[in-house]
Amino acid sequence: MKRRRFLQHSLQAAAAATLAMSPQLSLSLSRRPDYDYILTAEEKPLSILPNTTSPALAFNGEFPAPVIRARQGEKLRVHFTNKLSQETTIHWHGIRLDNAMDGVPYLTQLPVKPGASFDYEFVCPDAGTFWYHPHMHSVEQLGKGLVGALIVEEKNKPAFDADVIVGFKDWRLNKDGSFKTLSEPRHAARAGTLGNVATVNGELLPEIEVPANATVRVRLLNMDNSRQFAISLGEHLGQDNASIIAIDAMPVPNKALDIHQLGVGMRLDLGLHTPADAGVEIPIYDVKGRFYQKVCSLRTTAPIRSTAPPAIPTLPPNPVSEPDVSKAETHRFVFEWAGAMTPVSASGHTHHEFWTINRRAWAGMHSANLPEPLAELELGKSYIFELHNATPHGHPIHLHGLIFKVLSSDKKNITPFFTDTILLEKNERATIAFVADNPGGWMYHCHVIEHMKTGLMGYIRIS
Ligand code: C2O
Ligand code: CU
Ligand code: CU
Repeated sequence: MKRRRFLQHSLQAAAAATLAMSPQLSLSLSRRPDYDYILTAEEKPLSILPNTTSPALAFNGEFPAPVIRARQGEKLRVHFTNKLSQETTIHWHGIRLDNAMDGVPYLTQLPVKPGASFDYEFVCPDAGTFWYHPHMHSVEQLGKGLVGALIVEEKNKPAFDADVIVGFKDWRLNKDGSFKTLSEPRHAARAGTLGNVATVNGELLPEIEVPANATVRVRLLNMDNSRQFAISLGEHLGQDNASIIAIDAMPVPNKALDIHQLGVGMRLDLGLHTPADAGVEIPIYDVKGRFYQKVCSLRTTAPIRSTAPPAIPTLPPNPVSEPDVSKAETHRFVFEWAGAMTPVSASGHTHHEFWTINRRAWAGMHSANLPEPLAELELGKSYIFELHNATPHGHPIHLHGLIFKVLSSDKKNITPFFTDTILLEKNERATIAFVADNPGGWMYHCHVIEHMKTGLMGYIRIS
């Protein structure tokens, strides 16, 4: 990875300064091929289990993948090269970007062929915790390691003493490090095929250092293909000292963390007050019923101050338009289990269609075949989506290119909040609303990768 932000900024400053004086000079400067990041996707043996290597796929040959940092309201430029032996694209999950940069094959761009490059350039209007991943061959490409954090820094940085990333990703590995089958049909038709080796930032049960007596921002990202986490800090900090400050990058009024469901693709930002002493462990748990399973811990280093830490900052809101619910048009979406196994004769492969949205299973996209959108929306209008999960499994339903507001649910009390992914429990009905203010075709799918691959996917069109 090449981090060239400083260079880029000084060039921009120079370009701005010369623009007034000399058009020719500024033109030559703007042609310079400089990017914030140079990113590759490549095959790379990685040591995930000790004393073994796994034939992983990795961004820039690294896991965790490079953390891409952008600034709110500024352009991010990534020069991407596909060094895999199959086609790919990169999607920037949660960013309300220009449709042409959304990284969806056939819908927004042609696949990036092996050996080819694609320049992603877009402005990030919202600050917060996002991520990036391919949007092709997702079971394999994400499952074998192509997932990474994308942090958009606030225009005015909130005053945290430290800022740490906790990225979840499980792997399906044999003892010798080779990959197990990444998807088993009987699990794809249920909750998804779970990994058997859990990592946080690529390590087994790591301890992540944070300063003592400090206010710390912890960014949790669920970058797994299938696993849903129920995040808790247990009793270790006390509720006054652990607040949820953002959900899926969108700031919320600080509220105490009890147990927070983190479905696939979802993120959670916490603000913590760390204990006053060095060497204290703060475990992070995944809660299943009454069982608290430690997934990693934070460990305090030397205290950063001698007095009590300042209050946990509140994040500034992102510039998301408020939907006008009184004028909004309503669309209904029912997510169902189909349980069909459709043999696709041409390739000889069995294509499974386990799930449907409004009775349609996503059959995949090709250059010659772009299915009809699930809804056609008018640019600038407000919309209400009534969602009904008529299945016995949870589904994190994600919409590209837009941020929507969750208004209500028949399963829980909702304080309306903005997000890019709503986790629908089994049989849940929920209402969301948004302003259709970003034109283009936007994917709309469950983020359990096997669910999207076996039917639970579609797109909407805004024009
Ligand atoms: Cu992380 Cu189609 O999305
Ligand atoms: Cu997305
Ligand atoms: Cu699902």
